[in-house]
Amino acid sequence: MITALGAEHDGRTMSAEASRTKSSEDLKTAAPRIALGADHGGYPLKEAIKAMLDKQGTAYRDFGTDSTIGVDYIPYAKLVGEAVAAGECSLGILCCGTGLGMSIAANKICGIRAACCADWFSAKMTREHNDANVLCLGARVTGEDAALTLVDVFLRTPFSGDERHARRIAQITALEQA
Ligand code: RB5
Repeated sequence: MITALGAEHDGRTMSAEASRTKSSEDLKTAAPRIALGADHGGYPLKEAIKAMLDKQGTAYRDFGTDSTIGVDYIPYAKLVGEAVAAGECSLGILCCGTGLGMSIAANKICGIRAACCADWFSAKMTREHNDANVLCLGARVTGEDAALTLVDVFLRTPFSGDERHARRIAQITALEQA
């Protein structure tokens, strides 16, 4: 489903009219929704992630890109980061060749804690300890099956809520205002 910002899939059938009239307030109160973005290098992995989310019935919003034609990754990091920071999406996933450019760009957005992960333990820990809200993946680094496993654990793992981790995250947030 195409919206002003990209293709949307809410895990259920939604009319075009309903999609067009959905306000940002509706989006904030809606069920968890994943923001997806990629450049040309990450595009095939983004499509594989969408197929997995479709199977799971997990809602997502696809901010592009829509092909393997070369594009700069920064606008996609911005769209996904802003959707998560605004509360329109609960978590984000960004794919590029290495995951590095996407993570550097997304971390410039206030409220975004983007983690570039290539292993299962890091993908789990960055949710539990860092309350990371964007996962960045390198499609030229991590094979598709492994990357899907990282997405799955990232989306399923909650923040631990431990005081020491909350304290450290507050210190990271303070850096944004420094
Ligand atoms: C594009 O060639 C590549 O630079 C990009 O996908 C990403 O790896 C940047 O960090």
